[in-house]
Amino acid sequence: RNEPVVGSKSFTAVAINCAAKAGQWINTKLGAYSSLNLKYSSHDLVTEVDKGSEKMIRSLILTHFPTHSFLGEEGVEAGPEASTKALESLRDEEYLWIVDPIDGTTNFVHEFPYYAVSIALAHKGEVIVGVIYDPTRDELFVAEKGKGAYVHGKRMLVSKEQTLRDSLVATGFPADHQYALPVNLKGVQAVAPQVRNLRVAGSAALHMAYVAAGRLSGFWEIGLNSWDLAAGALLVQESGGKVTDTSGQPYHLGVRNVVASNGHMHDELTAALGKAGAAG
Ligand code: IPD
Ligand code: CA
Ligand code: CA
Ligand code: CA
Repeated sequence: RNEPVVGSKSFTAVAINCAAKAGQWINTKLGAYSSLNLKYSSHDLVTEVDKGSEKMIRSLILTHFPTHSFLGEEGVEAGPEASTKALESLRDEEYLWIVDPIDGTTNFVHEFPYYAVSIALAHKGEVIVGVIYDPTRDELFVAEKGKGAYVHGKRMLVSKEQTLRDSLVATGFPADHQYALPVNLKGVQAVAPQVRNLRVAGSAALHMAYVAAGRLSGFWEIGLNSWDLAAGALLVQESGGKVTDTSGQPYHLGVRNVVASNGHMHDELTAALGKAGAAG
């Protein structure tokens, strides 16, 4: 009863504010983090900066919207089972914020300047706001459901490449080396010879934002989580692109094996992965 009535504009404003604040703080810690720990495997890193960023975002969001639910990577036990369970328990909530406090932790640790903060808001399971902030370049990518996607206020549109042969495509090497990595490597072997070139820059969220901005023709990866994809998926859709799972089914919060593209070479990419047994 006492909760103020807030429109989607203030949701977006809070998301932007959180992403910018956290991103700027993260960059003050570049090369200056103090604790590095392993999570699921020796390829799965976390620092106190990941945790601090999530804490900062969580408390800001819950101050503005105390009745909303929150799902952040560092609040969930590591590994695919725990993350599926955490999402399943929350996905039907009225308002659910889905946050990756640093997407690209390995890059952050190595001072490779390609990582981002990713914040999405889902309403009854459907993403309505997506914000990705790259503090290195001070680039802010924002999408609102039905209202388009923007980078620093400039409308984004996906690229025009029609075929794999003309495409610049990205993928990722997942931390799960038992199952997801071998499948993704099969995809790399199949796709690399068919495209103009392949990029593996280490942030799924920024790869998705780059598809939205028309800087990449497409992106795929096996074994991602809701927080890697939720904001980026809305950015790509609102820029005129397409997001599905590797079997071609439309994107939803539970998708782990993703294909995102400008739409034109989408089916060709999905088919190439399927043919190679690299769809997961
Ligand atoms: C990782 C990054 C990376 C991708 C991994 C993700 P994190 O997220 O997005 O590019 O290949 O699969 O787990 O752990 O740095 O937030
Ligand atoms: Ca991680
Ligand atoms: Ca991530
Ligand atoms: Ca992360």
